[in-house]
Amino acid sequence: MIVDERITAYINSLEPELPPELSFLEREALENHVPIIKKETQGVLKFLLRLQQPKRILEVGTAIGFSALFMSEYSSSECKITTIEKVAMRLVEAEKNLSDSRFPHRDKIRLCKGEALEVLKELVAGKESFDFIFLDAAKAQYMSFLPELMKLLCGSGMLLTDNVLQDGTVTNSRYSITRRDRTIHSRMREYLYTITHMEELSTVILPVGDGIAISHKQG
Ligand SMILES: C[S@@+](CC[C@H](N)C(=O)[O-])C[C@H]1O[C@@H](n2cnc3c(N)ncnc32)[C@H](O)[C@@H]1O
Repeated sequence: MIVDERITAYINSLEPELPPELSFLEREALENHVPIIKKETQGVLKFLLRLQQPKRILEVGTAIGFSALFMSEYSSSECKITTIEKVAMRLVEAEKNLSDSRFPHRDKIRLCKGEALEVLKELVAGKESFDFIFLDAAKAQYMSFLPELMKLLCGSGMLLTDNVLQDGTVTNSRYSITRRDRTIHSRMREYLYTITHMEELSTVILPVGDGIAISHKQG
C-alpha cells in the first residue's frame, strides 16, 4: 500500500457499488488470490473510459476476465475489447467468465490466447488499432511490449499502465533491492523514464493502487 490505508479506505468507500455479478467475481478473485485491479484503480479506469469514450480497447493481462468485464460494463455499447492472456489455468477461468450469461456485455470481449508479445505482433500485422490500452501483465516485460503498443495505439489514444510503483519499491535505490528483484526494478524504472520522455506521449504517474501511469498519445 503506497497511500495511507485510511485515505484509500475513505476514497474507496465513496465509490458506487459494482453491479452484483461483478462484485461477486471481484470477491471470488480476491478469495483465490488472483491479482485483479484494486478498487481505487477501478475508479480511475471508469473515469478514463467515460472521458475517452473508446471504441476499441486492448488489454494486456486478462487473468480471469474481471477487468475486461469491468470495462465492458463502463464503455459504450459499440466498444469492442480485446484482451490477452497466456496462462492456461487463468484462461480456463477467463473463458468460463467471459461466456457467463450473468454478464450482459460479454459479447464485446474477444479473448486472445498466447504470449502477449506474439499476439501484439499479430495485431500489428493485422493492422489493428486501439484508442485505449490497459497494460496489466508481467511488469518486467512492459519495456518490450512498448514498441508494439505504440504501433497499436492511435493518435489521441490513451495508455493506462498498472502496478508501476511496485508497492513503492521502484523509488528505492537499486542496492537496497534484493538481487532477485533487481531486473524488474531496473526495467520498470526504464519503462517509466521512457514513457515520461517520449515525444509522442504525455504521461502522468499517480500513486493510486500499486501506482498507475496514464499516457496520452499526441493526435
Ligand atoms: C495482474 S493480472 C491481470 C489482472 C486483470 N487485468 C484484472 O484486473 O482483472 C496479470 C495477468 O497477466 C498475465 N500475463 C503476464 N505476462 C503475460 C504475457 N507475457 N502474455 C500474456 N499474459 C501475461 C498473467 O498470467 C496474469 O493473469
